[in-house]
Amino acid sequence: KYFQNRTGLKEMSQRLEKALGIRKVILSPVVNPEDQTAAQKELGKAAAHYLKKLIHNDSIIGITGGTTVQSVIDSFRHEKDHLPGAMILPARGGVGNRAELQANTLVERFANMLGCQYKLLFSPDILSKDAISSLKNEPEIKALMALIKNITVLLFGIGDAMTMATRRGLNQEEIGIINSRDAVAEAFGHYFNREGEIVYEISTIGISLEQFKTIENPVAVAGGLGKKDAIVSICKLHPGLILVTDEVVAKAILNDT
Ligand code: BG6
Repeated sequence: KYFQNRTGLKEMSQRLEKALGIRKVILSPVVNPEDQTAAQKELGKAAAHYLKKLIHNDSIIGITGGTTVQSVIDSFRHEKDHLPGAMILPARGGVGNRAELQANTLVERFANMLGCQYKLLFSPDILSKDAISSLKNEPEIKALMALIKNITVLLFGIGDAMTMATRRGLNQEEIGIINSRDAVAEAFGHYFNREGEIVYEISTIGISLEQFKTIENPVAVAGGLGKKDAIVSICKLHPGLILVTDEVVAKAILNDT
């Protein structure tokens, strides 16, 4: 039996904040744990509701791609706003899969909803070190990297390490490295072990782990039991983290601690 009333969720989120040692936990209700689509929709709604309060006209907002961030942006649909001074950026290069899940696509949709400015990043997610250093000298990329350094709100998805390694098309050697270093989580192109230590990083343009750690409002959105260990790992990166997850995951984490 899961809690489905607000008081139950609130109390559970406070316990989870303490257990994870992070700034804030927001929980979405799960009516039917078998129905992943409905659960992700609820998660998106909860995150969109919180983000509305967090985003202002002077915000510089970074976002990643993925189905979860997509569901957050879908939930904004009916909450038209007008923030001409705000700016939205993709946090990293694109993942080689469906266009509607790419950060660029989501940036454009989100910016149109908020009536704000945006920048796109036309670069593959995975690049050679040489390609990266020459791209970093391009004026447009330089300007974007400078903006990325000033991100005030980062909305990002968390993935299970193996699922993301496959989705990002890593080769056998890279998958071997990730496996042997016990990676459990992936976020913004970085892979982490259970302790939240970085074990592998995809060479690409975008936010670095050091920059991530200085962001004032990092908002992670991830749900579903398959991401439990990944979520716990990412929570170790930043004590100021705001985690939006679902009550099923919350209960499982609390049971472990
Ligand atoms: C990717 C993000 O686009 O989405 C990753 O760059 C994240 O950091 C992933 O792990 C999560 O995807 P999804 O579809 O499970 O929300």
